[in-house]
Amino acid sequence: MQLTYYGHSSFLLQTGGKNIVFDPFIKNNELASEIDFNSIKADFILVSHGHFDHTEDLIELANQTGATVVCSWEIHAWLNKHGITKTHPMNLGGRWVFDFGTVHMVYAAHSSSLPDGTYGGTAAGFVIESDKKVLYYSGDTALTKDMEILGSRFNINHAVLPIGDNFTMGYQDACVASDWIKCNNIIAMHFDTFGFIKINHREVDEYFKQHNKNLSIPAIGKTITL
Ligand code: NI
Ligand code: MN
Repeated sequence: MQLTYYGHSSFLLQTGGKNIVFDPFIKNNELASEIDFNSIKADFILVSHGHFDHTEDLIELANQTGATVVCSWEIHAWLNKHGITKTHPMNLGGRWVFDFGTVHMVYAAHSSSLPDGTYGGTAAGFVIESDKKVLYYSGDTALTKDMEILGSRFNINHAVLPIGDNFTMGYQDACVASDWIKCNNIIAMHFDTFGFIKINHREVDEYFKQHNKNLSIPAIGKTITL
């Protein structure tokens, strides 16, 4: 598995011979100005919830790439109305075997509406089993005891968690989440993009080190091998 950071909560995951993009919000993210949006190739786009900072580039990227969009039933219906018909709707607790691996849609404690106010269903995260690895992408979420279910149900190797606080859990709660999901390899997301979620990188680094966790605060455009 290879993971490239596109800023905020957007990543490119390359696994099972496919390109999978999470939560595209790139063009209006000033921090991600070095990402060449037009050259992004995707076979699948996974969408955690409807908020603009996760979906603003969704329709354009789906059109550009011809990717299949994996999302809630409600976001699927909204996309269909906007002319995107290559969609795969899921809901919490559901699993589907795709050609690159298995995707589980899991609980996220967050809200979900589309930018035009349309109800987006419940917010979600994803557990992806592919290339003999298990990756948890939580989406926007609070710390929730449901994460203990993930820790007992899966052997998670790497987890992508929000650390920016205010709209999601902050870094201390992400550290507790790491215990509950039984995974010490954490990749940070949902930080620094707006004033509300700016973090002190050194403080966060030190906190995770003190708790014996491997935290990666990815630089935009950088690729890490999982
Ligand atoms: Ni959100
Ligand atoms: Mn968000």
